[in-house]
Amino acid sequence: MSSLMWYLLFVTLITSPTVPANESSTQDVKVGACNITGVWRNELGSTMRVKAEGSEVRGVYQTAVESMSGAAGLDRTAQILGIVGDGAQPTVSLSVLWEKGSCSAWVGQCFILGDGAQVLKTFWMLRSVADNLAGDWGSTRLGEDLFFKTSISN
Ligand SMILES: *[C@@H]1O[C@H](CO)[C@@H](O)[C@H](O)[C@H]1NC(C)=O
Ligand SMILES: *[C@@H]1O[C@H](CO)[C@@H](O)[C@H](O)[C@H]1NC(C)=O
Repeated sequence: MSSLMWYLLFVTLITSPTVPANESSTQDVKVGACNITGVWRNELGSTMRVKAEGSEVRGVYQTAVESMSGAAGLDRTAQILGIVGDGAQPTVSLSVLWEKGSCSAWVGQCFILGDGAQVLKTFWMLRSVADNLAGDWGSTRLGEDLFFKTSISN
């Protein structure tokens, strides 16, 4: 290696900022704490407008999809009741009762991405009403939803 390259390497090393481990972890919390309150949209275009007060979450879910036409009601919206943990990246559980009697629940966690964006990574279950026990086997659907926090305010 030429002496110029050694010199450049040396300069790079001594001018690189050294951040103490504890400082960077306190910065992570400050810059990126999830705020569940707001409007979230998933990969299908469904939206959640929610407000968290302490560990309680309330809001409105507007679905872009339904198991059968009309299952989610005329305007495809329903109330959300949920809970959220504390900390910078809290876990959540959100439940919805649809107009025709089916219900859904999303369980997951909020994460802060490198660019500061907030995402909710969830699994959901949708329970449709079975006419009787014999119809039980095919009445539960399971899937994954990824919600992004939008910049729209409540
Ligand atoms: C980081 O750690 C050093 C040494 O343990 C301590 O003196 C300093 O107060 C800490 N800083 C923060 C922001 O916690
Ligand atoms: C969370 O977001 C809402 C709506 O944008 C805002 O009113 C509230 O102050 C925020 N809470 C925190 C702790 O930043």
